[in-house]
Amino acid sequence: MSSVFQDSVSTFLASIKQYLDDDSVSEVLINGPSEIFIERRGKLERVDAKFKDEQALQAAVRNIAQFVGRRVDDENPTLDARLPDGSRVSAVMPPCSRKGTTLSIRKFSKGTPTFVDLIQKQSITKDAARFLDVAIYLAKNMIISGGTGSGKTTLLNVLGSRIPGHQRLIVIEDASELKITTDHVVFFETKPPDAMGKGAVTIRDLVRSALRLRPDRIIVGEVRGPEALDLITAMNTGHGGSMGTTHANTPYDGLVRLETLAMMGDTNVPTAAIRRQIAAAIHMVVQIKRLNDGSRKITNIAEITPEVDEHGKYMLRDIFTFIQRGMTAEGKIIGELVPTGEIPSFMEEIEVNRLPYTRDKFTPPAWAVEYFAKINRKAA
Ligand SMILES: Nc1ncnc2c1ncn2[C@@H]1O[C@H](COP(=O)(O)OP(=O)(O)OP(=O)(O)O)[C@@H](O)[C@H]1O
Ligand SMILES: [Mg+2]
Repeated sequence: MSSVFQDSVSTFLASIKQYLDDDSVSEVLINGPSEIFIERRGKLERVDAKFKDEQALQAAVRNIAQFVGRRVDDENPTLDARLPDGSRVSAVMPPCSRKGTTLSIRKFSKGTPTFVDLIQKQSITKDAARFLDVAIYLAKNMIISGGTGSGKTTLLNVLGSRIPGHQRLIVIEDASELKITTDHVVFFETKPPDAMGKGAVTIRDLVRSALRLRPDRIIVGEVRGPEALDLITAMNTGHGGSMGTTHANTPYDGLVRLETLAMMGDTNVPTAAIRRQIAAAIHMVVQIKRLNDGSRKITNIAEITPEVDEHGKYMLRDIFTFIQRGMTAEGKIIGELVPTGEIPSFMEEIEVNRLPYTRDKFTPPAWAVEYFAKINRKAA
């Protein structure tokens, strides 16, 4: 952390400094001066820390804003920024925030996360990780879908870092968070408008510029606006292996969300055409969830059929799905991400390229076969 920033943290954020310094704390949430929560090992807990008063809290936010070259005042009561150490800060101030200033600081995690970390945290199994790896190698377009704080960005970091080094990757983000480590990667970040409301550079602008810069693949950190259409078009036109994240609770909803976003722009493309483009562009959706026990788990790896059905609906099938088998006395969820028995449509491509992923790995374990049979009987 830069020392000037360190100094201002010591002054303005003194009341929460102990949590900023504590590596086991991943996020600090401040709801007005005297209500502070922290997230530790995936769980939120309230702590005793307090700011002196609302003025002191506002001074801290103003200081952070100044540090990143932004202004917060009555006219601009929201802030979304990245600190010099990579932490992400979001704030909403009165009059928009009624309880006093709301501030969240998501701390920068050290190093780039890897599949090994995700396997250790039981967010994914070894086999599922290898399957995703194969899909990335084969340049399948992927969307990571998940709720707020479910681990989308972390997962995108892991997946993006598996892109083969000889390919040129362009990463586009709002407030830069990704730390993808491949041999050939360029990072773009949006720019807010100036005080006169001019000079903004949006994700959409950057996606369009990126396409002229000869990328093999494009990553959009968070697809949340009309850039969805540009990303889908890019995926359909020779930028295979592109990725992005979207906010949704199921793989199907993830696609619907993209559709809604794609229609936000100045486009007159009919819905049916957008749906067909989405179905053709996106090969897989990886769903991640924050479960009740605070853990983050990949719950579905779904493949999308490149056409819509006769009702214009997307056709998805899970290649891997998470099954909860129980819960420990301490409330920890026991379960596993298992193959469903569905063979991906690109199995032949896996074999032709002699990639180390054999057909038998798609066979579910006996207990899961029983479970699927039970569910099917119920559904029938
Ligand atoms: N697999 C995981 N296991 C445990 N904790 C995780 C995992 N992935 C991410 N986290 C933690 O969860 C928090 C949120 O992670 P992340 O920023 O990746 O989520 P997100 O879905 O991108 O959030 P947002 O919706 O705010 O963009 C972070 O504190 C991160 O350290
Ligand atoms: Mg994120």
